[in-house]
Amino acid sequence: DALPTTHPLADGRTAGSRLVRALRGDRPETLPVWFMRQAGRSLPEYRDLRVGTAMLDACLDPALASEITLQPVRRHGVDAGIFFSDIVVPIKLAGVDVEIVPGRGPVLGSPVRTAADVDALGRLEPEALAPISEAVARTVAELGSTPLIGFAGAPFTLAAYLVEGGPSKDHIRARTMMHADPETWSRLLDWAADVSGAFLRAQVLAGASAAQLFDSWVGSLSRADYVERVAPHSATALSHVADLGVPRIHFGVGSGEVLADMATVGGHADAVDAVGVDWRLPLDEAVRRVGTDVTVQGNIDPAMLAAPWDVLEAHVRSVVRRGGVARAHVVNLGHGVPPETDPDVLTRVVELVHSLGDGTDEA
Ligand code: CP3
Repeated sequence: DALPTTHPLADGRTAGSRLVRALRGDRPETLPVWFMRQAGRSLPEYRDLRVGTAMLDACLDPALASEITLQPVRRHGVDAGIFFSDIVVPIKLAGVDVEIVPGRGPVLGSPVRTAADVDALGRLEPEALAPISEAVARTVAELGSTPLIGFAGAPFTLAAYLVEGGPSKDHIRARTMMHADPETWSRLLDWAADVSGAFLRAQVLAGASAAQLFDSWVGSLSRADYVERVAPHSATALSHVADLGVPRIHFGVGSGEVLADMATVGGHADAVDAVGVDWRLPLDEAVRRVGTDVTVQGNIDPAMLAAPWDVLEAHVRSVVRRGGVARAHVVNLGHGVPPETDPDVLTRVVELVHSLGDGTDEA
């Protein structure tokens, strides 16, 4: 099983892009930059398009999802698109009653808390992913040599929403289930890993040139719990695209304690090509923890986007300088773009990063 010969990474369109080269360990003459949540509420053209359409309906409308994915690429000149969708899309397609409440996040009709609840989870039928494949195919046809990043939620982050029934601060119920009923926990994470893995695989087969696994809430776990009860399932999710040869990025928030484990997730030295680092950990310290066999991605503090330009510029230069000790660096934020961000500031950050060469002259 390899990529179709008409895939952008197989037919020569994106293999030489800054993003793909950096993820594979090369330092292109210009640093690649993109932003998590670059598509979304910071863009007036996004807010216009979304009027009257619920978030998850927008995700399942191929023309709309494709147009929203392309908006920030056109506006900012970033080095990658990230597919406009959500981590809960595949669980909805598997039959879970979930919606995204504006200003809050994913909310379930009924939480998944018992062995019987886990038994009752539905299957994700391959045909259900057709709108995702179509949206990706439309998008890469427009993107040309700019790579599209496909993504999925990691099993723990999905389970945190499933068990809690909505957003929560410390994911207490999920972490209790992990220890009170480890067998049910393991079955729930297996289900989530397969649903996420299928979602990721559909995006890659339809044209995504890289894949990012988001474990946004990994920071609420102890290292021991991460290694024993979570990481093997994240490795399963990533294994769904292993045969396709696209670079894989593994991102978490508050992940400092587990960053090295995320870089070799499930005990596989080659499970990921890059780790995404949040704003808490300086990149040179991140490199000390993960070594120089992986690329680092990050980690501009999203809070700095609203600071005066000279403060933001000094911060971006410092991020690039610290990233200079990594084998390669993909510049990004340490988490998503805040909705109130002035989009012109993002464009200016892209121009700044692109003026800094390969990132090793900032010393
Ligand atoms: O531009 C991109 O990064 C691609 C699109 C994307 C979205 N969600 C669109 C979205 C991606 C990669 C995600 C992933 C996602 N969704 C994560 C992991 C990344 C992260 O931010 O940690 C998580 C935890 C979710 C769950 C989720 N969905 C939350 C917490 C929210 C925010 C709720 C709110 O209103 O503040 C969403 C909704 C969501 N997903 C929006 C977007 C653009 C906002 C919805 C809107 O515009 O109405």
